[in-house]
Amino acid sequence: MTSTSLPIPAFPEGFVFGAATASYQIEGAADEDGRGPSIWDTYSHTPGKVHGGDTGDIADDHYHRMPGDVALMKRLGLQSYRFSIAWPRIVPTGSGAVNPAGVDFYSRLADELLDAGITPIATLYHWDLPQQLQDAGGWPARDTAYRFAEYAGQLAEALGDRIAIWTTLNEPWCAAYLGYSAGVHAPGHTDQAEALTAVHHLNLAHGLGLQAIRAVLPSAKGSVTHNLHVIRPADPEDPRDVDVVRRMRNLGNEVWLGPQLGDGYPADLIADTSSITDWSFVRDGDLAQIRQPIDVLGINYYTTSLARHWDGTTAREMDDGHGDTDATAWPGEQNFEVLHVDGEHTEMGWLVEPAGLTQLLTEVSARFPDVPLMVTENGAAYDDRVAADGSVPDGDRAAYVAAHLQAVADAIAAGADVRGYQLWSLMDNFEWAYGYSKRFGIIRVDYDTLERTIKDSGHYYASVIAAHRARS
Ligand code: NOJ
Repeated sequence: MTSTSLPIPAFPEGFVFGAATASYQIEGAADEDGRGPSIWDTYSHTPGKVHGGDTGDIADDHYHRMPGDVALMKRLGLQSYRFSIAWPRIVPTGSGAVNPAGVDFYSRLADELLDAGITPIATLYHWDLPQQLQDAGGWPARDTAYRFAEYAGQLAEALGDRIAIWTTLNEPWCAAYLGYSAGVHAPGHTDQAEALTAVHHLNLAHGLGLQAIRAVLPSAKGSVTHNLHVIRPADPEDPRDVDVVRRMRNLGNEVWLGPQLGDGYPADLIADTSSITDWSFVRDGDLAQIRQPIDVLGINYYTTSLARHWDGTTAREMDDGHGDTDATAWPGEQNFEVLHVDGEHTEMGWLVEPAGLTQLLTEVSARFPDVPLMVTENGAAYDDRVAADGSVPDGDRAAYVAAHLQAVADAIAAGADVRGYQLWSLMDNFEWAYGYSKRFGIIRVDYDTLERTIKDSGHYYASVIAAHRARS
């Protein structure tokens, strides 16, 4: 199917269509204008950690090309842009005074967006921790949460009411588990106790950060973004499979939703991980600090997983499914497999299953009826080719987007309160441990010339937004 023949689903008035990126993945200019090193600079420069030895030193050179990139967003008709702010540009060593040149970049970005009629949605932490804070212990150190709150307050002072939504953290699951347990993200540690300690301090950072922002901007809209896992048991009748899924959902989802929006850490999670930690890092009063009202909950969705119990007597099956693959990412969980499911898979090896997004949005909205939701990431990596005429005919990505937009529309029709969709990603970029080998953009970046080309998926998305604007 060509992208022009794809369906254009209808969305409620006020629904916001945008695209997302993150600082380390697109900015480059790694040591310019006073930016300090982050854990991703250190990690990507460590041989063997990132595919092809790729680093974010130059990335998409967005730091120097920002006005042109905003012009492209305007051409696509984007209503919002979800970007992240590099902590090491604002506070190069992780604590102390702000770096005016770093603030200036995001200040110009916010102005440029507002001039173009695009709503700025900012994430404060998309994994680029100042290296000096890692040297002092990183997320397993409680002090990092306090430094984060300080930085959040400094940003609120600097950017003020130009930011429509303040998102504290992006996918803390990855920061804690991939960074400190599986070791496949910066800082590359493999220590399960560290990972669970990091979980709590990320939660604390979220709560303290929101309070610091609201101390400066009382009506600031606060948010946090999670990659909530849609995990299903291989055999729903087998209590062992059901139990494996319960444990994974606890580690993947409840460990964030519990303290941030509910009644704290689930008792069974604490019991299940007691051989790793006694959770004494949770101090009196912490849960009250963490549980702050949010105005919107961000959900990143790519795929689902099918889990089965595993007793160690057979070869373990670990399908490539959104980090669930890596057994070591799940502290204490050595008794499960992730099964391969037949069907279409993206270039990441992730199963294409739009129905999982409908299910997730419907369930989360029913559970937290007072919390509006936003899809803060959804998209696909495919191995694009440039056609002879210079176009990028990525019909597979366009079809993925169309199917997932329909899934969001279905969730809304079923009663879910979903306010927007931020496509991942605006443009091809540094895909963490995969380097530049995976392309998620609806705009192609030629890494030799840094030239940008809107792909067919971008044209399709622009037509969805144009139809939405025309209806509103
Ligand atoms: C989640 C992350 O937030 C983003 O940085 C990443 O590139 C995409 N998913 C795709 O893996």
